[in-house]
Amino acid sequence: MSARRPGAVVVITGTSTDVGKTVATAALAAAARSRGAAVAVVKPAQTGVAPGEPGDLAQVRRLAGEITTVELIRYREPLAPETAARRSGDRVLTLAEITAAVERLRADHDLVLIEGAGGVLVRLAPDLTICEPARALGAPVLVVADPGLGSLNHTELTVRALRTAGCRPAGLVIGRWPDVPDLATACNRDDLPRLTGVPVLAALPDGCGAAEPAAFRAAAPHWWRPETGRLLGDRDSEAPPPPELSAPPIDPAETARNPQEIPT
Ligand SMILES: Nc1ncnc2c1ncn2[C@@H]1O[C@H](COP(=O)(O)OP(=O)(O)O)[C@@H](O)[C@H]1O
Ligand SMILES: [Mg+2]
Repeated sequence: MSARRPGAVVVITGTSTDVGKTVATAALAAAARSRGAAVAVVKPAQTGVAPGEPGDLAQVRRLAGEITTVELIRYREPLAPETAARRSGDRVLTLAEITAAVERLRADHDLVLIEGAGGVLVRLAPDLTICEPARALGAPVLVVADPGLGSLNHTELTVRALRTAGCRPAGLVIGRWPDVPDLATACNRDDLPRLTGVPVLAALPDGCGAAEPAAFRAAAPHWWRPETGRLLGDRDSEAPPPPELSAPPIDPAETARNPQEIPT
């Protein structure tokens, strides 16, 4: 039997907490599953939930369906992991622990997604952020961002921090694309990729996180631009991404119907 090619690894971070990382992770997992991929999702550190309570991975499973999920450590207080660990006296994660878990999963999954905690510089341990496993694993990083005013600054800061850390920001994901974009949101759709040099790979429709699982799974594959396939380990999507700058005007009706086709 020939050796299996190790699965692709993608890190999902965001400009902050609550921007839609978990929903984006579920949407990417659902899209990959629809293509027949075996998908695993790792949440290295989950905070703000008690033992036995549903965390982010429960939400991913609800939306995306049958996938492997691994949570490495959990802290009860809704704080950055390092802060929560310091207060509770619990242990902190190590880089080796995260990379070992991911390498194990890569051996028998086509795709391993890693959801960070909060934004990119949030500490998992005193000297550990999500940047270190991303770099160690050579994994592309998706940055989930808000659509509206303020997002240019937060997104550019995040992308610069990733590059400074030796990571590869490979795509932006707009966490909640509104039915009717306001002026700042409409401008951001063009300015975010232009100013960061990172393409917008998806704009998740506002409300999709509360969708019924069947509807979410049916729609999720259409939210991702075709070049996302390169991150998922496709061999047949090596074409360079289309230019991001020739954007037609925003059509809110079209946006609501099919977010993948909003102006690029
Ligand atoms: N596109 C969306 N539509 C509806 N609800 C969303 C969407 N994105 C996020 N949410 C909701 O917003 C909250 C925060 O999103 P979440 O994905 O958990 O953010 P993060 O993982 O970045 O902290 C959750 O309650 C989630 O269900
Ligand atoms: Mg989350």
